Amino acid sequence: MSAAVLTFSSGELQEKGDGLRFAIPALGPHATGFLVRFQGKPYAYVNRCAHVPVELDWEHGKFFNMTQEWLICATHGAMYAPQTGRCVMGPCQGKGLSPIPVSEQAGVVTVHLDQL
Ligand code: FES
Repeated sequence: MSAAVLTFSSGELQEKGDGLRFAIPALGPHATGFLVRFQGKPYAYVNRCAHVPVELDWEHGKFFNMTQEWLICATHGAMYAPQTGRCVMGPCQGKGLSPIPVSEQAGVVTVHLDQL
């Protein structure tokens, strides 16, 4: 079965707040992704660090660092730019998160798993 799209209410996604996690069955039975809002826009990534393939969040849904400027991996502190997923600091140098296309319209955020 091909992956479809996931939808979330825009109100569920707070600026620099908790990320919304979701399953990505196409990548494996335990694979997850996450959705965050940064500077008003939604961004989604596969929840897998570019250093070692583990989930990033230190507690479910906690993806931002203390200053809320970067996405951080709880394991060894790799930091990623929220807008691009590019590694900016830590053991992920030269790599990045895998982005998932997202759109937002009329109060609905759509994660396009079909375009992953
Ligand atoms: S596993 Fe993410 S920084 Fe090492």
